[in-house]
Amino acid sequence: MTRIKNLYIETYGCQMNFSDSEIVSSIMLENNFRITDVITNADIIFINTCSIRDNAEQRVRKRLKEFNAQKRKNPNLKIGVLGCMAKRLKEKLLEEEITVDLIAGPDSYRDLPKLLNTVEAGQKAANVILSEEETYANINPVRIGSNGVSAFISIMRGCQNYCSYCVVPYTRGKERSRDPQSIVKEAQQLFNDGYREVTLLGQNVNSYNWKNDDTLNFAALLEKVALVNPLLRVRFATSHPKDISDELLKTIAKYDNICNSIHLPVQSGSTKILKLMNRKYSRDWYMNRIEAIKKIIPGCTISTDIISGFCTETEEDHQETLSIMKEVEYFYAFMFKYSERPGTIAAKKLKDDVPEETKSRRLKEIIDLQQKLSHQNNLNNVGKIFDVLVEGTSKKSDQQLFGRNSENKVCVFPKENFKPGDYVKVKITKCTTATLIGESVDG
Ligand code: 5AD
Ligand code: SF4
Repeated sequence: MTRIKNLYIETYGCQMNFSDSEIVSSIMLENNFRITDVITNADIIFINTCSIRDNAEQRVRKRLKEFNAQKRKNPNLKIGVLGCMAKRLKEKLLEEEITVDLIAGPDSYRDLPKLLNTVEAGQKAANVILSEEETYANINPVRIGSNGVSAFISIMRGCQNYCSYCVVPYTRGKERSRDPQSIVKEAQQLFNDGYREVTLLGQNVNSYNWKNDDTLNFAALLEKVALVNPLLRVRFATSHPKDISDELLKTIAKYDNICNSIHLPVQSGSTKILKLMNRKYSRDWYMNRIEAIKKIIPGCTISTDIISGFCTETEEDHQETLSIMKEVEYFYAFMFKYSERPGTIAAKKLKDDVPEETKSRRLKEIIDLQQKLSHQNNLNNVGKIFDVLVEGTSKKSDQQLFGRNSENKVCVFPKENFKPGDYVKVKITKCTTATLIGESVDG
């Protein structure tokens, strides 16, 4: 009889990567593996990696050194690198990191059992070929580390926007949409299993476009998923400002269970920088979309991604980023220093000419401003009542629960008899920068 082996899987990077690790786990379970969260029990370690910034890659390199120590204790242990770094560095990774036995890019996960056979036979194995079709549509992801309430559903893969700073089109290949039937089926199954929130994932979800006998755009898909059940909340990430249409905003407004929160990465407030970034919109265009959101979905929160210190960024450009942050009043932001990525358009054509200290100082100003905006945003919610979907017990006290409102804000409140998966009406009494604090009120 074949022995069931233990897989330990560690994930870095974006939500998409976490979703991919669930697909990988599913494939491995079908092939005589079980998932362990105890690294010392592992027969194989997979590390699902991110290439988006240099520090993401450095973190993985450091982790591989630690795995090497593990391998010295257990010479039978195998190590596989998955995801974007595998694709970006290809065989170079096998040469540079002697500890690595296997590499598999984001479209090669169905090939893992075969690659593992090669590794078992004492050779190194690699498959980093990108596909124009793979969406893993028929694979039922294993919900690892799940809270049993919210889950990711991957609806499309790849990206072909070619923002000049970004490595994703090279690591994840061309854009392709997943069969809507399989998406709705997955959402229905999650609901039947007790889940109450799904996040539809893709690098650029608003360009979702299913073409078969019929065609279906993202607004239509969103509606189909919302109709699965009114008690199933629907979120999505990430949106590109260039194609966030009024039609989509109206669909969000039409259904109570489509959450009133949009992640709309701006990257910079300067039209000149946006052009160099090849973002395909200007500051005015972006602000027009923000106004449309505020008009069509009153109360909708907006979050963003910002890069500081992109090539040629002047003090004026930076001030424009600060001013757009104030104008939009983001409730949350992911903020980064520009990191040049080999092979991208910016790396080939532009000079990474903003000094490191300037990048850091500007990033700090951006972070400080966002702290203030987040706090103000939360203060504006004190006294309001929200429907909160309970996700779990608060980290700070087992007498408190935490969950999110439709606007994606974390709310903490006394446990009483509530449990994860319940919807609770919570009146907000106070807040911190990151959290709303309140108590349940009768529905
Ligand atoms: N340097 C810094 N940040 C980057 N991002 C993407 N590429 C880079 C890069 N080269 C950021 C963008 C993107 C988010 C996922 O990561 O803000 O929206
Ligand atoms: Fe990182 Fe982008 Fe790959 Fe996600 S898609 S893991 S953010 S490089």
